[in-house]
Amino acid sequence: TGTAEPLVPAHPTLPALRAAARECRACPLWERGTQTVFGAGSPHAEVMLVGEQPGNEEDLTGAPFVGPAGRLLDRALAEAGIDRSTAYVTNAVKHFKWEPRGKRRIHQKPSPGEVRACHPWLAAEIAVVRPRSLVCLGATAAQALLGRTFRVTVHRGELFASPLAPILMATVHPSSILRAPDDAARRTELARFVEDLARLADALR
Ligand code: URA
Ligand code: SF4
Repeated sequence: TGTAEPLVPAHPTLPALRAAARECRACPLWERGTQTVFGAGSPHAEVMLVGEQPGNEEDLTGAPFVGPAGRLLDRALAEAGIDRSTAYVTNAVKHFKWEPRGKRRIHQKPSPGEVRACHPWLAAEIAVVRPRSLVCLGATAAQALLGRTFRVTVHRGELFASPLAPILMATVHPSSILRAPDDAARRTELARFVEDLARLADALR
């Protein structure tokens, strides 16, 4: 797989990055997805949230976290006292990777090579927005930003200082909450997720 690096403008702004990423063909995923789903939100965001890759609805609309996982994220942010309008949301990989199952398109995990190919876009978003805090949602985002030896299961919810942002946290992906086996487990998992985000909100005060 290639790298998006040569496509990143030398003195990027978010609109310039978004325009350049629209043409990206640095890895094979450009062909499978409908469009590049670039990050969205405030250019002065205090909180940048990084997911894995766009899902079905994101692929069709072109905006990150607008489907079921995004609605759960919105709810959790609100419960934690974080205003989504002061946040920036994006993904480690900017094309939807899927395989057909009947009429449905089923999410497939991006490969390490695809994550690496797409990383320059994420790095540029962080460099331009320079958020006070970065939240990795799930293992793919954490491994994209913190390396492949990082374990969300071990360090979930911990606040770190990092060269990437003054405050960094890794927690679960909202999709994992939606996949919980029953309502009780879902409620417990959502409460833990809100707790993690509330700890971050506290640190930002
Ligand atoms: N899951 C993600 O990781 N990102 C999205 O934008 C939507 C679902
Ligand atoms: Fe480029 Fe990322 Fe899309 Fe691959 S997934 S084509 S690197 S934007």
